[in-house]
Amino acid sequence: MLCLGIESTAHTLGIGIAQCRRGKISVRSNARDMFKPKNEGIVPRKAADHHAKVFGGVLGQSLSDANASLAEIGLFSFSQGPGIGQCLRTSCAAARYLSSKYRKPLLGINHPQAHLEVSRGMLGMESPLFVYVSGGNTQIIIDNPKRSRSLRLPRYSVLGETLDIGIGNLFDSFARNLELEYAHGSAVAKLAQEGRYIELPYTVKGMNFAFTGLLTAATKKIGQEKKEDLCHSLMHTAFAEVCEASERALCLTGKKEVLACGGVAQNMEMQKMLSGMCREHGTRFGVAANEYNADNGAMIAYAGLLEWTRGKRMELTECKIRQDWRIDEVY
Ligand code: FE2
Repeated sequence: MLCLGIESTAHTLGIGIAQCRRGKISVRSNARDMFKPKNEGIVPRKAADHHAKVFGGVLGQSLSDANASLAEIGLFSFSQGPGIGQCLRTSCAAARYLSSKYRKPLLGINHPQAHLEVSRGMLGMESPLFVYVSGGNTQIIIDNPKRSRSLRLPRYSVLGETLDIGIGNLFDSFARNLELEYAHGSAVAKLAQEGRYIELPYTVKGMNFAFTGLLTAATKKIGQEKKEDLCHSLMHTAFAEVCEASERALCLTGKKEVLACGGVAQNMEMQKMLSGMCREHGTRFGVAANEYNADNGAMIAYAGLLEWTRGKRMELTECKIRQDWRIDEVY
């Protein structure tokens, strides 16, 4: 069976195709187009307009990369939430249209779950401690294998999380405060390479952490300290918070694997710090290829097939966006 998945929770419109053969899911294509705001954050209307505008091109690219036609698709899936309402509505409307036109079932997918599951599948991990670090979400998650077989019990538990903003949001906001043209975490990461450490506020409470105090303090120092030093210190302080909370969760759960996923998991420094912590505990550490950590449609297709195989079914009328859908509300 082929599943076509559509992703549009934030700045990226992604369309991917995954295939399930004899119980094994593999990715056939993963096309995407990213909205890049200049001198501002993501304006929902502008991002949604971008997604609508590039939809046809990305769909054509995905089908041609997979060497498939729409008539061959057996299942459609879309990112149902959490995310920006106007962006989510674009893929929701498109997915409902495709599902009814081609008379094939449709499943709404939780975006964080898709990141976790595609990474788990690609890395061949069983039941890792998930460290999910992205723009809007930063959470330490475990799944309960017994509950995975049930459609009535919450499938994942959040052990710890940010008490305010997501870690990617922290970097994007700071990049905007620095007045960088394309305010994005990768711009902060680049400057951070040239910097040295200066002390900034560090907030960890048990397995939870917070970033806004750090953002305010670093912003106040703009003009007083070198921007390279500020980026370096902001990034390392935030990563250290996530590492401390993850280590506590690792000791508590006794997990044998740690999996980092989400947009910020692409950051090499984050990977180095987490893998160092895992080495000390004799724990396997893994990160999937960057294309699955950036927002993408293949993971929505992958999760669609996974959920379909588990027996999940949805009526077309149930396929509405869920802007605040937490991963611990996935059944
Ligand atoms: Fe994401």
